[in-house]
Amino acid sequence: MASPELLLASHLGADCVIGHHPAGGCAIKNMHKDLDYQIEKFDKIGMLTPAIVDKLKKLKEHRKEEHYGFNYYRVTSFSEQLDIPFMNLHTTIDIITENYIADLIANNIERDDSIDELMCLLSKIKEIERSIENPRIVFGNKADKVGKVLPIFTHTPDIDLFNLYFRNGVNTIICMYPPKNIDVSCLDEVDKRIIGIGHMGGDSIGMNILLNKLSNEYNVKVTRVSGLL
Ligand SMILES: [Fe+2]
Repeated sequence: MASPELLLASHLGADCVIGHHPAGGCAIKNMHKDLDYQIEKFDKIGMLTPAIVDKLKKLKEHRKEEHYGFNYYRVTSFSEQLDIPFMNLHTTIDIITENYIADLIANNIERDDSIDELMCLLSKIKEIERSIENPRIVFGNKADKVGKVLPIFTHTPDIDLFNLYFRNGVNTIICMYPPKNIDVSCLDEVDKRIIGIGHMGGDSIGMNILLNKLSNEYNVKVTRVSGLL
């Protein structure tokens, strides 16, 4: 959600705009803080060590400067002019998506199942079926066993972060799209697999869970635009 959607919201007479991708203000400024959730995540799967905490802190420091120079006010000033409240739910939605995928895997996939079976399961999620992007194997082969599977939707796909999980016992990572900083040398490493399920399909899973709750339980009329599937 950005300026065009705020204009559309004003045209439709909407009272509030909820975006997922940070568009400005504190949502961008504090984006690096979503790495804190990875500490919780490592802890949850029993892999947290002082070395991991240290690496995550370094990654966080590095990410902190990534948006330096960004125009933080461009979109937020538009919402002020139109007098439409504009909120952003980023990591919250990603956690909902991640939990949804984790439950799906826990209930349907065993360590000895193949990547192909995992892909079939993911393809049947309604948001993924609606998406123009099919799930794809970024690393690995259809016949490989999945081993320990971990969905990571709570951070921009990042090979440095993924390698931390791989080096600590995770075999298959499910994310939205291939990490931009991927290194082709990783292709030689065995027992490492990355599955992408598509960006907007993935984000829509968590958004729809929240928006359905809003419309069913709080008498809110929801209009879905801009890539929400
Ligand atoms: Fe996204």
